[in-house]
Amino acid sequence: MRYFLSIVLLAVTVIFYSCYYDKEQLLYGGGSAPCTDTTGVVSYSQKVAPLLQQYCYSCHTGSFPSGNAVMGTYAADKAMAQSGKLHGTISYAPGYSPMPKGMPKMSNCQIAVIKKWIDAGMLNN
Ligand code: HEC
Repeated sequence: MRYFLSIVLLAVTVIFYSCYYDKEQLLYGGGSAPCTDTTGVVSYSQKVAPLLQQYCYSCHTGSFPSGNAVMGTYAADKAMAQSGKLHGTISYAPGYSPMPKGMPKMSNCQIAVIKKWIDAGMLNN
């Protein structure tokens, strides 16, 4: 009986945490959210900068940006994109520190938006 109870308790805990995770995914626009943002030309000012603002600028602007990785202006964001580090870190590519640090991974859609902007030549649009 005690064994049975602990199994039930374990199951409830697992279910609870998986629901919590689903909510978190929804909150941060998780992978299953419809990806409508990649249609047309991706605008730096309308799409990319707001995402970087939300996920990166808190740690990577100012006089002492984390890891000496400067962001927050078009020139700085473009330089990071050109070095391959922007896409490398957000897509958790091997050899890069996964970013945003200490937060859930950006959604596939958000990563695709940034990737499309990079592939189109990182325009200041
Ligand atoms: C909570 C703070 C925090 C946030 C938010 C954050 N970073 Fe970082 N980042 C760090 C710290 C600390 C380091 C240095 C340690 C390391 O490399 O893990 C770092 C290092 C880096 C580096 C250099 C490391 C490498 O692999 O070349 C890049 C590039 C970078 N971050 C990009 C980003 C991007 C892009 C975002 C947004 C998607 C982001 N970071 C969000 C804290 C943060």
